[in-house]
Amino acid sequence: MCGIVGAVAERNITAILLEGLKRLEYRGYDSAGLAVLDAAGQLQRLRRSGKVAELEQALRETELGGRLGIAHTRWATHGAPCERNAHPHLSGNELAVVHNGIIENHEALRRRLQAEGYEFTSDTDTEVIVHLLRQKLDALGDLAAALQAAVKELHGAYGLAVISTRQPDRILAARSGSPLVIGLGLGENFLASDQLALRQVTDRFLYLEEGDIAEIRRDAVRIWDVTGVPVQREPVQYHEGAEAADKGEFRHFMLKEIHEQPKVVQRALENRLGADQVLPQAFGPQAAELFARVRNVQIVACGTSYHAGMVARYWLEALAGLPCQVEVASEFRYRKVVVQPDTLFVTISQSGETADTLAALRNAKAAGYLASLAICNVGTSSLVRESDLTLLTQAGPEIGVASTKAFTTQLVGLLLLTLSLGRVRGTLDGELERTLVEELRRLPTRLGEALAMDPRIEEVAEHFAEKQHTLFLGRGEQYPVAMEGALKLKEISYIHAEAYPAGELKHGPLALVDAHMPVVTVAPNNELLEKLKSNLQEVRARGGELIVFADREAGIENGEGTLLVKMPHIHDVLSPILYTVPLQLLSYHVAVLRGTDVDQPRNLAKSVTVE
Ligand code: G6P
Repeated sequence: MCGIVGAVAERNITAILLEGLKRLEYRGYDSAGLAVLDAAGQLQRLRRSGKVAELEQALRETELGGRLGIAHTRWATHGAPCERNAHPHLSGNELAVVHNGIIENHEALRRRLQAEGYEFTSDTDTEVIVHLLRQKLDALGDLAAALQAAVKELHGAYGLAVISTRQPDRILAARSGSPLVIGLGLGENFLASDQLALRQVTDRFLYLEEGDIAEIRRDAVRIWDVTGVPVQREPVQYHEGAEAADKGEFRHFMLKEIHEQPKVVQRALENRLGADQVLPQAFGPQAAELFARVRNVQIVACGTSYHAGMVARYWLEALAGLPCQVEVASEFRYRKVVVQPDTLFVTISQSGETADTLAALRNAKAAGYLASLAICNVGTSSLVRESDLTLLTQAGPEIGVASTKAFTTQLVGLLLLTLSLGRVRGTLDGELERTLVEELRRLPTRLGEALAMDPRIEEVAEHFAEKQHTLFLGRGEQYPVAMEGALKLKEISYIHAEAYPAGELKHGPLALVDAHMPVVTVAPNNELLEKLKSNLQEVRARGGELIVFADREAGIENGEGTLLVKMPHIHDVLSPILYTVPLQLLSYHVAVLRGTDVDQPRNLAKSVTVE
C-alpha cells in the first residue's frame, strides 16, 4: 500500500527520501513522487508513474534538492495509477501533501472547494486535503492550527504529511487510521509510515497514536492528541538487526524468507517452552487467570493470517476442547454478531496495521468479549497497542508481499495458545502435551528437512509453468494448508488456483479435472490418508495429473500421472506447519519460471491499510 517518508535536516534530504521509498517498495505501489523546499524556499515536485527507480532516474536529471521534504509511493484507489494522480499534491505552489488512506467525504469536499475557486488537477481523494489546508492556512496563518482545523472535516482514514513555503522549517503530520512514526536523529528528524523506511538514518522512534497531530522540525517535535492537548509520546529504541533490508545470497526476498523459517520458528519458541509445557508467562502475566475463564474463541484475520486462524480452529477444538469460530475481518466487522459468554477475541496479523482487522478489533471492544489477544509480528503496531494480550511471532520483518515466515510463526503462536488454553482448562492430556512440546522443539530441524526437498520441488514446478488453473486438496487441518498453497500460487504466479476440502471434490470441482488441470494434494500419514487416497483415484480416473506432498510412509508412489514429493515424518498436529513449506517453494519456483515479479506481485500490497 501507499508509503510516506519525510525528512528535515541540515543536509540535502533527497537521497534519504529515495532510500526510504525503496525500503517501502515491498508494500506494493504503482507511482512515486517527492516534494522538497529548495534553497530559495520554493516548492519543487517530481513524480513518476511506475517504480521508484524511475523517480530516481528523473531526479538524477534535475538539480532538485533541499533540506526539507516529503515523498510517497502510491497504490491507486481513487484515480488511475498515472503521474497526474501521484503524490505529493499541491495547492497554489505553496503547500504539498502526501496521504495514505481514503477520504470518504472527498466528493462533497471537492464540490465545495471547487465552488470556492480551488483548482483540481487530479482524480484523487487526497487533493481535497491540500486545498482544504490552504483554505485553513489562509484563515489561521499557522500550519499546525490549519491542520487541526482541516482534519475535523475529513471523514475516513489518513496518515498524512504536509510541507509549506509559509513555514519552511517544519513538516506537519496527522494520523487517523493509518500509521505514522517519527524518526529521531541528531539535529535532524524524520517521518514515515513504517519505521523500516528510516532504519538507515535512525533507530529511535516516536509512534503517533490515533488522532495525533505532529509538528516536526530539525531540533524539536511537538505532538497534540486527538483533543488538541499537547502530549509526549515515549521514544522507542528499535533493536531489530539490519537483516530485513538485504536479500543476502538469495535471488528474492521471498526465497530468503522461506529459508529463514527454521531460524525464526526457533526464535518464536524461545523462552516460551518449559520442560514439558508452554510457559504460563508466554502470553503475559495476566494470561493464566484470563485463559482459565475462556469458554469460546473467535478468530478474525485477513489473507494468509486468516488461513492460520483456520488451522488453529482444528487445534483449539481438538486439543483445548474450545468451540472456535474463524472469520475474515472484512466480513466480521460489518456483521451483527452474537457474542457467546467468555469468548476470547483473537486477531492474527503480520503487520498489525491491516485496516479491516483493526476495525474488527475496535468493534469487538464494545461487543462484550472477554478479552482481546493479538498474534502479531510487529510489536509497535496499532493492533498490538490496542489489544489486551499479545503474542509476538518474532519472524523479523517480512518483505516479500506473499507471506511465508510470518504464516509459519503465526501457526507456532497459535499452537502455543492452544496448548496453554488446554492446560489451564485441564482439557489437554498431559502425555500428549509433553509429546507436542517435544515435537515443537524438533520443528526447526524438520523444517530444515522440508527445505532440503527444494531441488525436487523445483523439478515438479516445471509441470506448472504452462498451466492456467490448479486445484489444491487437503483434508482436516490440511484443508487450510491447501487454501494457503492456492493463495500463494495465485498471488505470485497469477495461475488460477482454488482449494477444496478433498471430500468436496465430487460435489463439483471434479467436473473441471482433465489433463490441463493439475491437482496438488497434501497427504500426511494421518487417519484421513485412506480417504484422501480414494479422492486421488477419482482424479487419476479422469486423466488429472497429481502432485502429491506425502509422508514418506504414506504408501503413495511416484508413477504415471503422479508426481510425488516425499516429506519427512511429523506428528499429525504439527503437520500443517511442515506441509506449508513445500507449497511455498512450489509457488516460488513456478513464479520464477513464469517470470513474474515474485516479491512485488502486480496489484497487491504487503500491508492493506485501507478498506
Ligand atoms: C495482504 C498481504 C497478505 C496478508 C494480508 C493480511 O493481503 O498481501 O500477505 O496475508 O494482507 O495482512 P496482515 O498483515 O494482517 O497479516
